[in-house]
Amino acid sequence: MQTLLYGALLLLLLTFSPTTTNAHNITKILAKFPEFSTFNHYLTTTHLAPEINTRETITVLAVDNGAMNALLAKHLPIPSLKNVLSLHVLLDYFGAKKLHQITDGTALAATMYQATGSAPGTSGFVNITDLKGGKVGFAATKDADDDGTLSLDASFVKSVKEIPYNISIIQISHVLSNPDAMAPSPAPEAENITDIMSAHGCKAFADTLNSFPDTLAVYTTNAEGGLTVFCPTDDAFKSFLPKFKNLTKDEKNSLLLFHGVPIYYSMAMLKSSNGLMNTLATDGKKKFDFTVQNEGQTVTLKTKILTTKVTGTLYDEEPVAIYTIDKVLKPKEIFKKAEISPAPAPAPEAEAPKSSKKKNHHKSPPAPPTDDSSDSPADSPADGPSDDSDAADDSSYGGERVKGLSMLIVSVGFWVMVSMLV
Ligand SMILES: *[C@@H]1O[C@H](CO)[C@@H](O)[C@H](O)[C@H]1NC(C)=O
Ligand SMILES: *[C@@H]1O[C@H](CO)[C@@H](O)[C@H](O)[C@H]1NC(C)=O
Ligand SMILES: *[C@@H]1O[C@H](CO)[C@@H](O)[C@H](O)[C@H]1NC(C)=O
Ligand SMILES: *[C@@H]1O[C@H](CO)[C@@H](O)[C@H](O)[C@H]1NC(C)=O
Ligand SMILES: *[C@@H]1O[C@H](CO)[C@@H](O)[C@H](O)[C@H]1NC(C)=O
Repeated sequence: MQTLLYGALLLLLLTFSPTTTNAHNITKILAKFPEFSTFNHYLTTTHLAPEINTRETITVLAVDNGAMNALLAKHLPIPSLKNVLSLHVLLDYFGAKKLHQITDGTALAATMYQATGSAPGTSGFVNITDLKGGKVGFAATKDADDDGTLSLDASFVKSVKEIPYNISIIQISHVLSNPDAMAPSPAPEAENITDIMSAHGCKAFADTLNSFPDTLAVYTTNAEGGLTVFCPTDDAFKSFLPKFKNLTKDEKNSLLLFHGVPIYYSMAMLKSSNGLMNTLATDGKKKFDFTVQNEGQTVTLKTKILTTKVTGTLYDEEPVAIYTIDKVLKPKEIFKKAEISPAPAPAPEAEAPKSSKKKNHHKSPPAPPTDDSSDSPADSPADGPSDDSDAADDSSYGGERVKGLSMLIVSVGFWVMVSMLV
């Protein structure tokens, strides 16, 4: 009995254990301190927060809203702002005590800006110097060509939060900056994203994208501020091509844009972001979104029509990430309609399947409810196994239902056993 109970408990723990391994949540910690709300906001906007969260042994040099306003007055583009803020994340643990007892009174600390690899020379380091009277000064070091003397114009104000050897948050008086960090980052769009895709197993998708210059332009424009591309592998896209050719020009454009997201997501960020994601095709009423769902270490993307799996990282150089997926993403905005209208060719007299499809279609309200698997039982018959790939999609919904059911059985079994023991 006891063994059974432990077994069930273990199973439950395994089933519900979180899939992400964040060491901490900087957003949550700083939310308790309104004086850092602007700094906190921009950690989120620049996507530095998730990167901080996944690192252990880190120090964040926070500045208050007044100091942030001075930085924002410079109207830097987001990539430069991100560089500047990443100078405020030291890749080592500095509690208040350690800061005041630095060996020889001065040290250089590597920052997250250094870790991006885009910091020239020593511009990714912060100089920390113990000054007279117990003051601690900070300066973002300049490139080696500069004349060497630094003004340590930012100084230690107070310790905000210390979780020893994991994360230390310290307030400093001014924003740290240097010309390299503030310079507009070398245009990443200079990288030809379709060339990158072609070279790594997504040639069919890339070729198609190249034949739609206006669509490609949307991708390259977004590549400056943040872009994640989910490109179907050649096998997946080639088998989809006949269907693609059947779409109208607008639909082709939307389908291609549907495979891009106007935000940079590292793999770690993808794994910790479940939920709806807008795409490059999203435009006001045209939702064109899909759901990201993590299952263990697997990231899946779901539309009402099908579920695809992220199978690999093809390119990841912030602000652009390109991942491979095992199926073409089919937006419901295009395929609900398209897959219902053509009558099944072999049986022109068979009215039954057709009318049941119609009925199902009309049942679904015009304003689509938020995507989730709860309406899949009603939807999957309507989407119909009109070809092989769709049949496979349906079985994935089935698998989910089976999994849900087995989880239910395990949970019920567990509580029955607990109540028997009590
Ligand atoms: C520091 O992080 C490690 C790994 O995430 C964790 O095991 C440990 O409990 C943390 N320490 C504290 C004091 O929170
Ligand atoms: C961190 O905390 C914020 C605010 O409490 C929350 O919105 C966010 O989802 C959390 N992030 C993670 C990865 O748990
Ligand atoms: C930090 O800057 C100060 C002032 O320019 C300088 O004296 C010191 O040598 C620097 N520290 C390091 C480790 O470079
Ligand atoms: C990328 O390269 C391909 C050919 O290699 C070319 O057709 C396409 O226009 C290029 N795209 C950009 C944005 O430069
Ligand atoms: C393309 O459209 C035609 C005419 O509507 C139809 O007969 C054909 O089955 C469609 N092909 C695919 C692959 O959907």
